[in-house]
Amino acid sequence: MTPVQLIVHCAQQMTQAGVSFGQGTLYPEDEAAWLVLWALGLPLDTDTSQLTTDVDEQAVQSVLNLLAQRIQTRQPLAYLTKEAWLQGVSFYVDERCLIPRSLIAEAIAAGSMDPWLSPDSTKALDMCTGGGSLAVLLALAYPTMHVDASDISAQALEVAQINIDRHGLPERIKLLLSDGLSHVQGIYDLIVCNPPYVNAQSMAALPAEFQAEPVLALAGGHDGMDFVRRLLQTVSNHLTDHGVLVLEIGHEIQHFQQAFAQLEPVYLSTSAGEEQVLLFTKQALLT
Ligand SMILES: C[S@@+](CC[C@H](N)C(=O)[O-])C[C@H]1O[C@@H](n2cnc3c(N)ncnc32)[C@H](O)[C@@H]1O
Repeated sequence: MTPVQLIVHCAQQMTQAGVSFGQGTLYPEDEAAWLVLWALGLPLDTDTSQLTTDVDEQAVQSVLNLLAQRIQTRQPLAYLTKEAWLQGVSFYVDERCLIPRSLIAEAIAAGSMDPWLSPDSTKALDMCTGGGSLAVLLALAYPTMHVDASDISAQALEVAQINIDRHGLPERIKLLLSDGLSHVQGIYDLIVCNPPYVNAQSMAALPAEFQAEPVLALAGGHDGMDFVRRLLQTVSNHLTDHGVLVLEIGHEIQHFQQAFAQLEPVYLSTSAGEEQVLLFTKQALLT
């Protein structure tokens, strides 16, 4: 079989088996391409013209084994391969942290918060950093920035350390074990935060793949806003006068607006929608 035939086969099998997507890829064909290329040891950007030649039986078998594991265990592919990609950057990942997929990564890549930053913006915080992907992307995108990266999960911070080392950034990213802002002392020009924000109803209906991720990384209480409520009470104390908070809320805009009717965020457009990543100036948070 050729890699292309294997990709078609894997996509069909995963669709038939009712596998869930959304942890790195959105569609069966994309997940199948990722699975096949990884199993064959090929880079994700392999030229498609190289994928139409038969591979040997052993290579076919390694693809089919990984496919069987993906279908039978319902583990996300990233946990099986121990690798995830975000904005073209590779991250180590395992069950200790959420699989990187934050929409804030898109905002960083697009420079969406640049109008609020200046050459003097040198201090950033990645709050709820998990495996550290946003901290790494910030450090790569803004070479003069020093980034603190905080999380309540010591296990997730172990993964973040692996990614900081992998990208050669130990001088520029400092990890902080902290429940919310309790052990965060800095004042920042930029705070990014992809918090746990899944509401209780959605948590109860999570597909198996998402149940494999740490509950702590997803569950945001009854309306998804438990963490955000606490954060917004004091976060302005950690922003410089011109500082901004960039907050992901996913599909929870209605719950957000119900909880914080008085707040007026700037909406940063993403491929998933217009109201999933919000930006607040310090002034907007104080009013
Ligand atoms: C949605 S995940 C985001 C992880 C990472 N930033 C990303 O985008 O892949 C939320 C993270 O918040 C952390 N978290 C949950 N409750 C927290 C709390 N009270 N204080 C700090 N971090 C918390 C979880 O451990 C998890 O790593």
